[in-house]
Amino acid sequence: MRARCNEFDSTLATLAREGWCVLSGLLSPEQTLALADECEAMHDTHQLRPAHVGHGRDRSLLRGDHTHWFASDAPSAPQLAYAMRIDELRIALSRKLMLGLVDSESHYAVYRPGTGYARHLDCLRGCDARVISAVFYLNEAWQDAEGGALRLYLADRSHRDVYPRAGTLLLFLSAQFEHEVLPATRLRKSIACWMRQRVIGATG
Ligand code: OGA
Ligand code: MN
Repeated sequence: MRARCNEFDSTLATLAREGWCVLSGLLSPEQTLALADECEAMHDTHQLRPAHVGHGRDRSLLRGDHTHWFASDAPSAPQLAYAMRIDELRIALSRKLMLGLVDSESHYAVYRPGTGYARHLDCLRGCDARVISAVFYLNEAWQDAEGGALRLYLADRSHRDVYPRAGTLLLFLSAQFEHEVLPATRLRKSIACWMRQRVIGATG
């Protein structure tokens, strides 16, 4: 078990140094495929809903994803496997970076071809509960030419593009990195997750 206890160490060192990092190996290819299949089946049977945007804002200009929040009661087998690993990562991260991450929230997100998410920050207005953004990608054999990169804007005004390949997990500090989802030519599936700290006086 010793190796397993330290399995996130180099990732977390990068996150502490850079504020963002990419991790592979959170789940096996089989577990990742089971999530991808469930996500696509839920999309095909209209169980995903247009994502929420702030009151009075035009959704079509801002974001094009359809989402389904994971419920903690009665999760499916693929969601349970994911939730257990995300929790291990959250606890390791919270300890190593001393972040006080008490829980996380996750949803499936599907972007249909041609849709994206304009440049934004993940902190919800008036609430700083979201500390870490984590995006786990579910797309088998994704080619860069298909687009769909997550463009992460860095402090020096440069950017990095992360392609949504199955098994890739992108982590970044929610309050520090603006980012956008570029449109793709193919259906783009992922799980978006936020690891949260306790906020005194918050209701949710
Ligand atoms: C989000 C988001 C990024 C992605 O849901 O807030 O930025 O790559 N998602 O799907
Ligand atoms: Mn975001």
